[in-house]
Amino acid sequence: MYSVVQIKIKRVIMDKFVINGGKPLEGEIEISGAKNEALPLTVASILTDDVSIISNISDLADLRSMISLLEVLGVKSEIKGNVLRIDPSGCDGYEAPYDLVRKMRASVYVLGALLGRLGRAKVSFPGGCVIGTRPIDLHLMGLEKLGARIKIEHGYIIADADKLVGTEIFLSGIHGPSVGATVNVMLAAVKAEGVTVIKEASCEPQITELADFLNSMGAKIEGAGTPVLIIHGVKELHGAKHEVIPDRIEAATYMIAGVITRGNLLIKNCIVKHLEAVIEKLREIGAEITYEDDGVRVKAKDPLKPVNIRTAPFPGFPTDVQPQIMSLLATVPGISVITEGVYPDRFIHVSELNRMGADIKVDNAVAVVKGVEKLSGAPVMASELRGGAGLVLAGLSAINQTVVSRVYHIDRGYESMEKKLANVGADIKRVSE
Ligand code: EPZ
Repeated sequence: MYSVVQIKIKRVIMDKFVINGGKPLEGEIEISGAKNEALPLTVASILTDDVSIISNISDLADLRSMISLLEVLGVKSEIKGNVLRIDPSGCDGYEAPYDLVRKMRASVYVLGALLGRLGRAKVSFPGGCVIGTRPIDLHLMGLEKLGARIKIEHGYIIADADKLVGTEIFLSGIHGPSVGATVNVMLAAVKAEGVTVIKEASCEPQITELADFLNSMGAKIEGAGTPVLIIHGVKELHGAKHEVIPDRIEAATYMIAGVITRGNLLIKNCIVKHLEAVIEKLREIGAEITYEDDGVRVKAKDPLKPVNIRTAPFPGFPTDVQPQIMSLLATVPGISVITEGVYPDRFIHVSELNRMGADIKVDNAVAVVKGVEKLSGAPVMASELRGGAGLVLAGLSAINQTVVSRVYHIDRGYESMEKKLANVGADIKRVSE
C-alpha cells in the first residue's frame, strides 16, 4: 500500500526517456539558471534574518531538495515562476538529517552557513556516491581552522564554535581546489572576526557569483575567480537580490547534442567565457562554432576527428561534461583518450555506452574511446546526473530506439530536458510506468 506522496515519488523514479535516434537537431535551445550556483546562494541567504530574492532559478529536483532541507531548519521559501523568495527569520534549527542530506551532497553547505548563523550545526555526513568517494576533509579542515570544534558521531558532523576567527587556509586536495570546501569556508568566514585568506580557492564561476551575492548582502570578499580569496569578516549581513547566471553545464550538454546528431543548434542565453574549454575541444573535433548576438551556434557534419581530453577544475575542461563528450567521441572514428582529473572513478556510464555498441576501455582514470560508425539503440540506465545526460545524447545519435531509465537522476540538474530536445526535432518522450 503506498501513500499519495509515495506513489508520486515512485512515478518519478520509474520515469523513462524513450528516444528514437538518428535525427539531426535543428533550432534554438534556451539555457536555464545554473543549478550549482542556485544551491550555494540559497544556503547563503540564511546568514541574515532578512528576505532575499534569487531570480532565474530552474525547476530542478536538487533545488527543491535544498529548499526542503532549509524548511526543516525553519526557513520559509516561496517560488513564483523562476523567482525564489527566502525568509530565514525563523531559522533556528541546526540539524540537517540523513534523509535529506543523502539526496544531495550540496546539503553539506548548511554546515558553514549554520556555523556562521548560529555557531552550531549537526549535519549528516554525506558519504560517497557513484562518481567517487567524495570526501569532505577539506571542508572540515577549513572550518576547524576558523575555530569550529568538530566531531563525527553516529554518521553526523557535530560542529560548534564560540566564535569564528579569520585565518589563512589552503583548500587544495590531490585533485585540485574543492568547490564545496570553498563554499563552506566562505559561508562560515563572512561573519568571522578578522580576515580570512583562502589560498588555492576554487575559481569556478559559481564561486564568483556566490561572492557577488554575499557582497551584495554586506560581506567584504575580494579576489573571487582567482585562487586567493580575501574575506574581511563583518558583524551583520542583510537581504539581497541576485539573478542566477545561465548553467554552463546545461549549455555544454546541448552544444554536444548539436554535434553528436550532426545538427545545427543555436544555444541561447549562455556565457561564452564559461564555455571556452568545451568550445575549444568541440572545434578540435571539427564542429563549426560561431558567436551570434543571442547565443552560440554549433554545427557539425562528418567527418569529425578524435581528440584527447583531461578534465580539470575551471577553467579546465569540466568533469561535469565528461560523460557527454565521451558519448560524442564514441561516434567519432579513431582513438580518443579521456583522462578524468577530478573524479578518477566517474566512469559508471561506460558499460551502458558499450551496451549501445561503443568501444570504450577504462584503466584507472583513463578511458580509451575507439569511435564507431554508429551507436545502436538499447535499454540503458542512468546512474548519475551527467552520466544520464551522456546516455540521452548517445540515444539521440543512435540507430533505432534507446530507453533511458531512472531519469530522476537527470531531473536533478536539467529543467525539462525532453521538452527542450523535442523542440529542436528530437524524437524523445518521457514515459511513466
Ligand atoms: C562540485 O562538487 C559540483 N557540485 C559537482 O557537480 C562537480 O562535479 C564538482 O564540483 C567538480 O567540478 C556542486 O557544485 C553542487 P569538489 P563538489 O569538492 O564541490 C576532492 C554535478 O554533476 N575533494 O570541487 O563536491 C573531490 O573528491 C555535480 O552537477 C577532497 O579530496 O566537488 C574531487 O576529487 C556532481 N576533499 C575534487 O576534490 C574534500 O574535502 C573536487 O571536488 C572535497 C573534495
